[in-house]
Amino acid sequence: MTERPDDTIRHSPSADRNMTPILGVLSQVLPARGLVLEIASGTGQHVAHFASALPGLAWQPSDPEAQMRASIDARVRAAALENVRAAVALDAGKARWPIDSADAVVCINMIHIAPWAAALGLMAGAAAVLSDDGVLFLYGPYRRDGRHTSPGNARFDDDLRGRNAEWGLRDVDDVREAAASCGLALQRIVEMPANNLSLVFRKTAASSKTGE
Ligand SMILES: C[S@@+](CC[C@H](N)C(=O)[O-])C[C@H]1O[C@@H](n2cnc3c(N)ncnc32)[C@H](O)[C@@H]1O
Repeated sequence: MTERPDDTIRHSPSADRNMTPILGVLSQVLPARGLVLEIASGTGQHVAHFASALPGLAWQPSDPEAQMRASIDARVRAAALENVRAAVALDAGKARWPIDSADAVVCINMIHIAPWAAALGLMAGAAAVLSDDGVLFLYGPYRRDGRHTSPGNARFDDDLRGRNAEWGLRDVDDVREAAASCGLALQRIVEMPANNLSLVFRKTAASSKTGE
């Protein structure tokens, strides 16, 4: 992520590249109306793009980093987006989230750049705020069946683990299991550009009972 010299708005080149393919999946899985809570909003590029393209939804961005929240709010102000709320401080790994309910939860490129506890917290927190049928959408690079899906992802994983031993690409099966234990069923896996995946979970009464 880079900082523009004379303002607080940060910019991520990868968010520029992936926002359109991600929006393509979100357009299919999000409800037409309601509140979408974004976890780990980062620079705010995604929430600004999605809120502008899907004006029927209200968007609640969040990030644990104050600099990121400042970037999100500045970007939203600059774009005059009326359907985006002020960014809130939210650490997915913390038990208490500052939002009680949402119709969908979106989290892009976070669970590999945080300890596994953050992924577990994300599942528990999303399950708590979503009502039955609510969607949890995850995007990022993942391992499948214990293996990397590309040499580039393997290198990225090495790099992440070198920076922090608790970081690293997660296996889809581990993520599926963690979600299921919170009553969130993995309903769809969408292959995305550059060896990324979209994972679409849904909170269902059946999954709450069986953990499937
Ligand atoms: C690689 S950036 C991704 C930002 C944005 N979603 C994107 O794709 O451009 C990772 C983000 O995760 C946030 N983050 C790290 N640990 C987190 C946690 N435990 N809970 C919520 N967000 C976290 C960081 O502050 C950062 O903004």
